[in-house]
Amino acid sequence: MMEMPHSSKKQRHIRDLFSLQGRVALITGASGQLGSSLARALHEAGARLILLDKNPTRCEAWASRHTTTDQEILSLEADVTVKASLEAALSASIKRFKTIDILINNAGIGIFTPFESRTEEEFQAVLDVNLKGTFLCTQVFSAPMKKQKAGSIVNIGSIYGLVSADPRIYGDSGRNSSEVYAATKAGIIHMSRYYAVHLAPHKIRVNVISPGGVFNHQKEDFVQNYVQKIPFDRMATEEDLNGAVVYLASDASSYVTGHNLIVDGGFTIW
Ligand SMILES: NC(=O)c1ccc[n+]([C@@H]2O[C@H](COP(=O)([O-])OP(=O)(O)OC[C@H]3O[C@@H](n4cnc5c(N)ncnc54)[C@H](O)[C@@H]3O)[C@@H](O)[C@H]2O)c1
Repeated sequence: MMEMPHSSKKQRHIRDLFSLQGRVALITGASGQLGSSLARALHEAGARLILLDKNPTRCEAWASRHTTTDQEILSLEADVTVKASLEAALSASIKRFKTIDILINNAGIGIFTPFESRTEEEFQAVLDVNLKGTFLCTQVFSAPMKKQKAGSIVNIGSIYGLVSADPRIYGDSGRNSSEVYAATKAGIIHMSRYYAVHLAPHKIRVNVISPGGVFNHQKEDFVQNYVQKIPFDRMATEEDLNGAVVYLASDASSYVTGHNLIVDGGFTIW
């Protein structure tokens, strides 16, 4: 049945629209460079957290420093490529928090060998974590969202889902971004559109953040080459992504679904 829009008299304060107080957010790859920063942002916006990673040591350390009675943090070891492992994580999450409101599909890997010498196993491993992992996590963790008829899923893509890696940036650094990584990130954008359509009847939104390269003490000549392609004249910091994730996770974006939010300092605009 058609829904009538809310009356404008019921408008909430903008602070409330961005607030994640009372929400439960699960972040995959939460031990990593971006995952740990995205988790911090969601926590600062008020969410209770489930930090999921194959190697959860960093999550556990962070959780023990930041957990409070109002904002509990659960740290879980799970592999996004193994459905049984995710189902166990779901049970543990429901036991602790009763539901999941926000899913950030952030776990991802790359491969940096020249494509001529890439093995089938290396190719498959990237497909498994980036694409199959996003599929399995969406399938498993959207279940409680469906039950409550509310949820927000944010998938972490990359600018390389939109444009090819320029070999001139990488030179002989041995860090060339790969075709399979790019294909998975393009796939994530399109899978997100599919899930956005198919989960809309359950009031679950699905969006993507496509970050540009984030500074992580890469070699100076690489950074110089990279920055030449960025109108903003610098690589991203982890903090540059925090506003985007809180926006897409929160009610501030309640009418936004199937969107790809590019956060790249302008890398892809010319
Ligand atoms: N760092 C960048 O410059 C950049 C740019 C664009 C997009 N991204 C994307 O951001 C996401 C995070 O990247 P990052 O740079 O923080 O990477 P990272 O390597 O620092 O972190 C990735 C995390 O994922 C975990 N992980 C890997 N395989 C897993 C599995 N099978 N199951 C569970 N956890 C697993 C790892 O243990 C690690 O903690 C990735 O999807 C990446 O493609 C990163």
